[in-house]
Amino acid sequence: MLKNHLLGTIACISGKKKGYSIRRLVCDKAFYHNIKAVKGLKGYPTTIVRSYMYGDINCGEAAKIWDCEVISLGKVKIGIGTAMNHVKIRQACNDVTIGNYCSIGEGTRIIEFNHKVFRLSSSYYCSNIFKENMINDIESKGNIVIQDDVWIGNNCMILSGVKIGRGAVIGAGSIVTKDVEPYTINAGNPCHKIRDRFDAETKMKIEDTKWWEENPESLHNKREVFDEFEKIILSR
Ligand SMILES: CC(C)(COP(=O)(O)OP(=O)(O)OC[C@H]1O[C@@H](n2cnc3c(N)ncnc32)[C@H](O)[C@@H]1OP(=O)(O)O)[C@@H](O)C(=O)NCCC(=O)NCCS
Repeated sequence: MLKNHLLGTIACISGKKKGYSIRRLVCDKAFYHNIKAVKGLKGYPTTIVRSYMYGDINCGEAAKIWDCEVISLGKVKIGIGTAMNHVKIRQACNDVTIGNYCSIGEGTRIIEFNHKVFRLSSSYYCSNIFKENMINDIESKGNIVIQDDVWIGNNCMILSGVKIGRGAVIGAGSIVTKDVEPYTINAGNPCHKIRDRFDAETKMKIEDTKWWEENPESLHNKREVFDEFEKIILSR
């Protein structure tokens, strides 16, 4: 039994497209905790360390996942080069999609469902008393979509149905209950816009690059693009 589980884990993390990337990590037993998967010493390895991953979790190449807990009854997707540290994801009804090159700070929780409150009890009575599927006890406002290059500070809470636009920043301790505009800085409870990161022209120029669609290997030869934007932004 134990052997089968371990073999299952190894099969899941070996990946196909790239030697060192995890394309799809499917763990069907809660047993799969404390996974240590650092594939490939060269290139840009996907790293999953001391993490508990349960469910249908698709993890992109070069992602760095440290001390995280992802429990999913549906689908969770974590993009290329996204880094998360001590993050918890709870998904049950709708998908959770995290884009490429996101940075998600310690203690942040992405919670995709609510207890049902407009009924006799908000508790899990269907599953705990009547032995029904736990899905009867929860509801959700929709998918959680975190687009590319979003930085979420420490100890944030991202709730169901929200979309955080590309390049947005979420300040530490924020509770995100509504959609967040791309390339804005936001904070608080409820999370609200503090300011734009860039002027409209710069945003358009950044959007035109579509740099986040490339993997680290191809970006490695484009250092000058990053340098050029830094100069443009600092000169404004
Ligand atoms: C949001 C953040 C990036 C700063 O953004 P900024 O544009 O420089 O904002 P400022 O510091 O100028 O603050 C602007 C306003 O927002 C408020 N503010 C800033 N961060 C806030 C936060 N996390 N929560 C609530 N309000 C916040 C400030 O108090 C200020 O309010 P005021 O205008 O009433 O005085 C920063 O405050 C932050 O939260 N960083 C995250 C740190 C972190 O978690 N690091 C972990 C590394 S992964």
